[in-house]
Amino acid sequence: MESKIIREKFLEFFKSKEHEIVSSAPMVLKNDPTLMFTNAGMNQFKDLFLGNSTIKFPRIADTQKCLRVSGKHNDLEEVGHDTYHHTMFEMLGNWSFGNYFKKEAIDWAWELLTEVYKIDENIIYATYFGGDPAECLAPDIEAFDLWKQYLPEERILPGSKKDNFWEMGDQGPCGPCSEIHVDLRDEADKKLISGRELVNESHHLVIEIWNLVFIQFNRKADSSLEQLPNKHVDTGMGFERLCMVLQHKKSNYDTDVFQPLLMKIASLSNLSYGKDEKKDIAMRVIADHVRAVSFAIADGQLPSNTGAGYVIRRILRRAIRYGFSFLDMKSAFICNLVQVLSEQMGSQFPEIRSQKQLVERVIREEEESFLNTLDKGIAKFENYIKVNTNKLIDGQFAFELYDTYGFPIDLTELLAKEKGFEVDMTEFLKSLEAQKERSRKATKVETDDWQELFTAQTEFVGYDNLMCEAKIVKYRKVKSQNKELFQLVLDITPFYAESGGQAGDKGWLINGDDKVAILNTIKENNLTIHITEALPIAFDSVLTAKVDENKRRLTENNHSATHLIHAALKKVLGTHVEQKGSLVNDERLRFDFSHFSKLSDSEIAEIEMIVNTKIRENIKLEENRNMPIAEAQKLGAMALFGEKYGDSVRVITFDKNYSIELCGGTHASATGNIGMVKIISESAIAAGIRRIEAITSDTAEAFINCEIEALNNIRQLFKNNQNVFKNVSDLIDENAKLNKLVEEFNKEKAKIIKSELANKFEMINGFRFIATKLDADASTIKDIAFQLKSQFNDLFLIIGSESNGKANIAVALSDDIVKKGLNASAIIRELSKEINGGGGGQPFFATAGGTNIAGIDNTIEKAKAFLK
Ligand code: SER
Repeated sequence: MESKIIREKFLEFFKSKEHEIVSSAPMVLKNDPTLMFTNAGMNQFKDLFLGNSTIKFPRIADTQKCLRVSGKHNDLEEVGHDTYHHTMFEMLGNWSFGNYFKKEAIDWAWELLTEVYKIDENIIYATYFGGDPAECLAPDIEAFDLWKQYLPEERILPGSKKDNFWEMGDQGPCGPCSEIHVDLRDEADKKLISGRELVNESHHLVIEIWNLVFIQFNRKADSSLEQLPNKHVDTGMGFERLCMVLQHKKSNYDTDVFQPLLMKIASLSNLSYGKDEKKDIAMRVIADHVRAVSFAIADGQLPSNTGAGYVIRRILRRAIRYGFSFLDMKSAFICNLVQVLSEQMGSQFPEIRSQKQLVERVIREEEESFLNTLDKGIAKFENYIKVNTNKLIDGQFAFELYDTYGFPIDLTELLAKEKGFEVDMTEFLKSLEAQKERSRKATKVETDDWQELFTAQTEFVGYDNLMCEAKIVKYRKVKSQNKELFQLVLDITPFYAESGGQAGDKGWLINGDDKVAILNTIKENNLTIHITEALPIAFDSVLTAKVDENKRRLTENNHSATHLIHAALKKVLGTHVEQKGSLVNDERLRFDFSHFSKLSDSEIAEIEMIVNTKIRENIKLEENRNMPIAEAQKLGAMALFGEKYGDSVRVITFDKNYSIELCGGTHASATGNIGMVKIISESAIAAGIRRIEAITSDTAEAFINCEIEALNNIRQLFKNNQNVFKNVSDLIDENAKLNKLVEEFNKEKAKIIKSELANKFEMINGFRFIATKLDADASTIKDIAFQLKSQFNDLFLIIGSESNGKANIAVALSDDIVKKGLNASAIIRELSKEINGGGGGQPFFATAGGTNIAGIDNTIEKAKAFLK
């Protein structure tokens, strides 16, 4: 069964059981501080389990892109070395939100596996939660009994909390689970040892394929468990593993999900897959990682130096490094795999097809720059080997290679071994631990449990009102880097929470004389959180929530301007322009988009012209808060990949023939409010991604006034001449001509002075002593000194001068004198004491500067005395 059909059959099956089929949420998470990436299908439903959002469909099924590379679920190190773990994988899932529970979950899983997919029931094992006394949790006998209908008891196994109690992270919804495993070994192997002994024992052919979680608890910050008001089902089946089972393969990589990628890697590296285990591992690592990295980039997460971007960069570097070390790939090649991925997965996940070019460019640039760093690191390593003879690589040095040059420790070990060296691992691990501790400290946030005053879901009224009466539903304390803040949830709020690039509202909570400032408003999943430094005194009474209107209006202008610019960019540059990032606050707007070359001045001017025309048309905002997504798409609304939209969406239109976007932000009521747009910068932020920064209304006006004032000041210097550009450029030309004249003049002057000086000498002990004070610049003095020096072979010259209120001296000696052992540099250090200064130079010419002008004569006297 082809993988495409396997996926379809799963969704069809649950559709027939009255499940709503939804699309995958983005793999990169934006509104969840506890997670960077989607690590399970249930992430996007977390709020439904906790009761924070209204349940629209009590039954849902989907295939979800997941990434397990950080936090509680991290499979990165296994990937490639075994044949059934992945960084990115698809999770097929079905959910019940307070609807069906264990019975249906188990019955349907059995029906799908044995009747639809026709898996031999004799190879199936099930596990159930065996209880945990420390948590006061009893064994899940209900699940055990349900499985007994289908399986003999010896194939139903109890499991520990580690295997059979599923938790997403340190906090959040969780519960006991029942896993389905399959034994794919040959009959001969099965006779030797029973599959029962191998379940959950990391055997590559006795593997878990499906996890049925019975969500009924919430894990709190103090690690205690609290019963949820309703019971839910969360199931997750590993799509790639299911394909392995149904395609009768022994490895996920042998299925049609991975084979095309592996074949491409083999052809690019002139090798074959399946010949040499080390090379096979490298090929598997690359095939796996290119999927993770490509989908992350398509979801809007570029590789970078911090947070989620850094995780993506490290995954990509791991792949590059495996290619470099084991496949001898010394130039960029992973970018060439994106094409295969787009052909293979593009129909289920269109984002990879439409952003193929961008993904390729970003990966290529990362590859090139990392290969370059690897080269530098290797040069550094080789230098180290040359100068250190004790055959030991210092742990600190290994850490520097790791930290600065991105060398994983096994690469350093490999290089060391080749040269007969060993790595001091104890020291290395110490440095690594110290670094981890530093970053733990820097990012540690302590979050208390919510203190709930009453139960309610927040109603957002901020599209229409900037002020309302509200009550605090719950609050908690948060401590980060020794700063203590409060987070408050209100029953009704006019405050817009930071999202979609628009900054959160600021404002106040007011009760009589008590006025508490709201510093920011953020979103955590669907929760709107107001951040304050203190709790209102009467925190359980009715308060007035008031948004800072001025800041909000300026922000709205910038947000609406962003839409107008987005549309203009598509018009001027082409439809390949895709939003890649946006930031809108009360000061400015920043817009990142895919485009492959620098914008010319005339393109920028055209964009501004279009946008400012639309502003002058004073187009009224059309806002549709509840449009079915299909209808919005028909209208041609611009949606973003990497954003999660519900089935009905908010649509913002400024002229239906100009700009229609899906958007949750707040906007100017008509484009005229924006006043004007001024683009103040255009730059590149990554391969294929440009950034525009712009300002609007008052800020743009102030900026332009400031520029005009500067221009007027210049005009005045030219007696208000209007053609000031010509004035300035004439001035520059004239200045260049004059400079040349001055230079020639100085040269003439130097010649004359030199001839005069040549006659003004005094012979002292065989030295031709010439001393003078001159009114000339440093280069003229040097010129004179060098001419005299080449004219005489017995010269001792000292010249004093003044410039900008400072004393300068220069000493020049003929080469013959230098040969006798005198040194101008040493002499000037002694002489410069007289002018309160210092200096140096070469044995035949040295200069010094100092603060005491009156001391110049003394230097001359001192030099004379020295010669005598
Ligand atoms: N949440 C469970 C898992 O990820 C089942 O979906 O394994």
